[in-house]
Amino acid sequence: MTPPPNPTRRTVLNSAGLAAVTLCLGGCAAAGSESATSGGSGSSGPVTVNAADIPVGSGKIVAPYVVTQPTAGTYEAFSYICTHQGLPVGEVTDAAIVCLHHGSTYSLSDGSVIHGPATKALTAATVTLSGDTLTIS
Ligand code: FES
Repeated sequence: MTPPPNPTRRTVLNSAGLAAVTLCLGGCAAAGSESATSGGSGSSGPVTVNAADIPVGSGKIVAPYVVTQPTAGTYEAFSYICTHQGLPVGEVTDAAIVCLHHGSTYSLSDGSVIHGPATKALTAATVTLSGDTLTIS
C-alpha cells in the first residue's frame, strides 16, 4: 500500500498509535514473562536466603514466606499470607509477625495468633539449613 502523498493529521496519528500499540505488545509480553518467572507473591516455590540475614529473636519477610529465628540457630518459616483476609503480612518485630492491614500479630515460633482479628495461625512452611543457606518451601 502506497502512503498518501500528503498525509493528513489523522493518518499520521493513526500510524503513531499503531506503532505505540506494537511497542506495548512487545514490551508488555516481555514484562509479563519476566514476572511469571521471578517468584512473585503468588508463587509458593522454594526460596533461599542467607541464614545470617535472619535476626535472632525476630525474622524477615522473604516473599512468599516469613522466616524467623526465635532462638539462636532455630529457624521457622510460614506463609506470609495473613489468615484474616489473605493479604501479606507487613513486618517482623522482636515480638511478633505483624499484619499491618488490620493489626493481627503472630508468634515468631509457631505462627499462632497472638492478637486478632485473625483467628487461624499462619500456614507453616518447611525450612532447611544447608551450610549458610536456608531453603524455604
Ligand atoms: S489481612 Fe491481616 S489483619 Fe486483616
